[in-house]
Amino acid sequence: MEQQKRYGHFDDQHREYVITDPQTPWPWINYLGNEDFFSLISNTAGGYSFYKDAKFRRITRYRYNNVPMDNGGRYFYIKDGDTVWNPGWKPCKTPLDFYECRHGMSYTRITGRKNGVEASVLFFVPLKKWCEVQKLTLTNHSSDTKQLKLFSFEEWCLWNAATDMENFQRNFSTGEVEIETTAPAGSPAGATIYHKTEYRERRNHYAFYHVNTEIQGFDTDRETFVGLYNEFANPDAVMEGKPRNSHAHGWSPIASHYIEVTLKPGESKDFTFLLGYIENEQDKKFSAPQVINKDKAHALIAELDTTAKVDKAFAELCEYWDALLNIYKVRTGNDKLDRMVNIWNQYQCMVTFNFSRSASFFESGVGRGMGFRDSNQDLVGFVHQIPPRARQRIIDIASTQFPDGGCYHQYQPLTKRGNNDIGGGFNDDPCWLIFGTVAYIKETGDFSILDEMVPFDNQPGSEVTLFEHLKVSMDHVIKNLGPHMLPLIGRADWNDCLNLNCFSWDPNESFQTTENVSEGTKAESLMIAGLFVVTGKDYVALCKKIGKNEEAARMQQAVDAMIDAVKKHGWDGEWYLRAYDFYGNKIGSNECDEAKIFIESQGWCTMAEIGAEDGMVAKSLDSCKKYLECEHGMVLNNPAFTKYIYEYGEISSYPEGYKENAGIFCHNNPWVIIGECIAGRGNDAWSHYAKILPSYVEEKYQTLHKVEPYVNCQMVAGKDAFKPGEGKNSWLTGTAAWMWYTVSEFILGIKPDYDGIRIDPCLPETATDYTVQRKFRDAEYEISIHPNGQQKGVKQIVLDGSPVEGTVIPYSAGKHTVEVTM
Ligand code: GLC
Ligand code: GLC
Repeated sequence: MEQQKRYGHFDDQHREYVITDPQTPWPWINYLGNEDFFSLISNTAGGYSFYKDAKFRRITRYRYNNVPMDNGGRYFYIKDGDTVWNPGWKPCKTPLDFYECRHGMSYTRITGRKNGVEASVLFFVPLKKWCEVQKLTLTNHSSDTKQLKLFSFEEWCLWNAATDMENFQRNFSTGEVEIETTAPAGSPAGATIYHKTEYRERRNHYAFYHVNTEIQGFDTDRETFVGLYNEFANPDAVMEGKPRNSHAHGWSPIASHYIEVTLKPGESKDFTFLLGYIENEQDKKFSAPQVINKDKAHALIAELDTTAKVDKAFAELCEYWDALLNIYKVRTGNDKLDRMVNIWNQYQCMVTFNFSRSASFFESGVGRGMGFRDSNQDLVGFVHQIPPRARQRIIDIASTQFPDGGCYHQYQPLTKRGNNDIGGGFNDDPCWLIFGTVAYIKETGDFSILDEMVPFDNQPGSEVTLFEHLKVSMDHVIKNLGPHMLPLIGRADWNDCLNLNCFSWDPNESFQTTENVSEGTKAESLMIAGLFVVTGKDYVALCKKIGKNEEAARMQQAVDAMIDAVKKHGWDGEWYLRAYDFYGNKIGSNECDEAKIFIESQGWCTMAEIGAEDGMVAKSLDSCKKYLECEHGMVLNNPAFTKYIYEYGEISSYPEGYKENAGIFCHNNPWVIIGECIAGRGNDAWSHYAKILPSYVEEKYQTLHKVEPYVNCQMVAGKDAFKPGEGKNSWLTGTAAWMWYTVSEFILGIKPDYDGIRIDPCLPETATDYTVQRKFRDAEYEISIHPNGQQKGVKQIVLDGSPVEGTVIPYSAGKHTVEVTM
């Protein structure tokens, strides 16, 4: 393979990825914001902002799948004589003398230089504030005095991102703004443009775009500013160097400040731009008829109206990330591993936790809310960082469950209500609640969460304990068994595209919600079977821990029965079957023409160690290597489907090698890797892991891979694809949490448990000594591991100088050192 072009590199010391060429093979984005106010930002400053919910509270407008790609964002135009340029290259695309984009932990810094002027913009969302800060620093490196004309630009979205894209007969008449050309009382200088569309009626929120300096003009009407037949690349006002002072009435409101800047040689000036969001109480909406009450906006502006205040807010954000990333830190001496474990994997976990699958450059933010199964899995990736938020998330998710244990597949983050668009009946969903809850309790020791009163379907009066929710979750599986005593699949299991009760010939039907055969009483899933055994064992252990011994025994029986059923009806000879279809025929069997083997059931049944004593686990893992593995990871199924099979649903609708049809669905590679770790096969575990580890891909395949090299993507085209190795759907994927869970707990072997930390690494023979610093509840452990060429098996653990029995170091507060010999 020839050396591929590189567009950037890691800077581990600053925890940044540094992009040095704006024309990346695809926009390489970052996320700003940690709790309520969020932004997406590309390496050319494209993207948008929203408050809590990318669908219902979209603050700025974005057009997906546009020509050119990634148009629309927060743009600064600098007019220096006849040259107009942007620090992030786009939208003018004026060639720059220097360009750099540094994506860091919840911030992005974009720097451009042209004709002796440098413009550097730091973008971030301060902790606990509802705004995006854009700190622009202009520096004159030339020997002449520069007279610059600076234009800012944001385009408002009319709040609901879905109707914003379609309901033009209304939208073009509703837009309203207010303009304040003077500083709010108390602030030294400044000007603010307010977006108040629909504020006159039911909305009690507005947005604003502020700059902390005097302005010499502004624009708020898009057509006036840009010119109807122009583009973002050449707005009339900018090209002529003359703002129009336009006041938007309907059409498309925007916000642009115009500032004249004089810079002497060597001089540098800072400007703070703020994109903010405000909610007012119903009876305090107006300060005069139809005039917004701006008190809260002024207060927010006052908190950030000087460079010193902005720098302080940024320092706080950096400290916040220091603290988060100090909880688990490894030193192996392998930079590629260390940077993923210590920085990027944990960072991606936090982002997926915040966004679920709602808003990325592949998810438009209008289609999907928070997934029941997705969010439970995401939780495992970040529970060590902010346990209280994990706790709240578990309660939120459980509150959308039905009394019989079934679930809405998704809920809306703004309302926290189940979202019926995607329906329910995905029969794996309930099990994930156990997965998430157990992880939370093991991390925190907080059993009280089990006594929390949690409603069903958010109905007041329906509250039962969270433990009861776990119980009905398990029961939902047991009460929905098929002819082989294996779990009925319902609409689908983890694989949203294995729709065995769908039977669709109508292209206008959704595979996700259509169920054309009324009674799905036959199609069964081996993936759910494995998942049930894994989470069932966890549930049994939990019950014992809290003294519910009868319940433990009852569920142990169900788990044992499931293991028997898998052994009897779920084994194909060399691997586990995937499913039985509507007619009771095998899926994922050597007897099938195509898709003879699937990854999901290999992952879950090996994790569950079903039939390990009969050699089933080892055979299954070997089959994964033989049939699923390729240069870029393990494919989901093999061989790919080459034709549409209507009794299987969406899966065979994809061309060969993509998505659920034999793509490398990175999310489920870790399942097999964990299976390998449990089986003690460290060499194999590592080689699978390194294949999809971004830092390894980054080194080799930046052009081919296309998407951001610092995070995992959902899918890499598989070996049957037209372009194997090409990545898609970056950022928001369960891969993040699973990669974290796999490396932190199974490969490096530091596993939180009810009474302490279990230490049980599984490593390649080549692994050398390493240390892990782990904060755990009120303790801090410095753990040194000496692998001695072993793949698995801890020989001795010494805690603070005294040997420990077994592999669990018992929890006690304070600082501890641990020596582990394998
Ligand atoms: C997507 C979904 C996830 C699903 C997977 C496989 O990533 O978010 O819920 O399990 O696809 O279909
Ligand atoms: C499917 C995708 C799958 C996703 C599902 C739900 O089309 O292939 O990955 O989970 O849609 O939106």
